[in-house]
Amino acid sequence: MPRPLVIDTDPGIDDALAILLALASPEVDLQLVTTVHGNVELPQTTDNALRVLHLAGRSDVPVAAGAAESLVYPQPERAGHVHGSAGLGGVVLPPSPAVVDPRPAVVALAELLVAAEQPVTVAAIGPWTNVALLLATYPQAAERIGRLVLMGGSASRGGNVTAAAEFNVWADPEAAARVLGSTVPTVLVGLDVTVPTVLGEEGIARFAAAGPVGAAAAAILQQYVDHARSSYGATGVVLHDALALTEAIVPGTLGTVRRDVVVDTTRGAGRGQTLVDRRSVSDSPTAVDVAETVDSPAAVEFLVSRLAGLAARVG
Ligand code: RIB
Ligand code: CA
Repeated sequence: MPRPLVIDTDPGIDDALAILLALASPEVDLQLVTTVHGNVELPQTTDNALRVLHLAGRSDVPVAAGAAESLVYPQPERAGHVHGSAGLGGVVLPPSPAVVDPRPAVVALAELLVAAEQPVTVAAIGPWTNVALLLATYPQAAERIGRLVLMGGSASRGGNVTAAAEFNVWADPEAAARVLGSTVPTVLVGLDVTVPTVLGEEGIARFAAAGPVGAAAAAILQQYVDHARSSYGATGVVLHDALALTEAIVPGTLGTVRRDVVVDTTRGAGRGQTLVDRRSVSDSPTAVDVAETVDSPAAVEFLVSRLAGLAARVG
């Protein structure tokens, strides 16, 4: 039986690939996409989510829009320079025939959780504003989350948007502190495991050649490839969100250790830093399963083969 899955997302190039990966994976049943501000503004992340689902022939999956802003202090800037001003690397996908779910994301998510007959996996791959709001507004529904897989943070690699902070946490540190302080079973997929997991041009070419969906995914990725090459001289791209979805799809993909994690919510140079206590394994009820090891070649192969399979099927 496929496991129920919800993705909370700010598409976003790697978000788009993560959504396609979920749709390519029989282990999970994507039942809802909730959108959040982050890489670009909420109306754009929401339209992008609709278009990516339509690209894969899955405009039946409901999309509910959530938070347009961070909980306390506005996000200092969006990430159009990385994801393109419209969020999908300059690629304009065909518009979806579907309309946005009229319910606020938190309501749609709470209703799904309360009605679920088996544990629901929630993958949060944008700023965690919606998840924090769910915890505060519908705590009983949040308790029904079987597994919360978070893309964000960094235990030992510093940040990617500042020296201290990874983007999703930096975008809403107060939300991150709320989420990481909950007792929901949580896996934290941070830069420690995403940055070493590089998708190369050979892998991109494989799914690009498999059909129109793969070709569109490769086109969306091109801006990421160009940004990585010009910024770091890299010959591949890091698909942070796709690795988080891989863990959601195949639990145990990543090596995790239970750690206490706190977030720097001060307004200084360290704002948005995740402080992971690696001195010991924690037995605290608010401890988080922090991903510390990854078989990067295997994770890349999983992504490429799944996307190629989807592209071949959807045609
Ligand atoms: O730091 C990586 C995260 O920031 C990913 O979710 C990516 O989409 C960006 O939002
Ligand atoms: Ca994202």
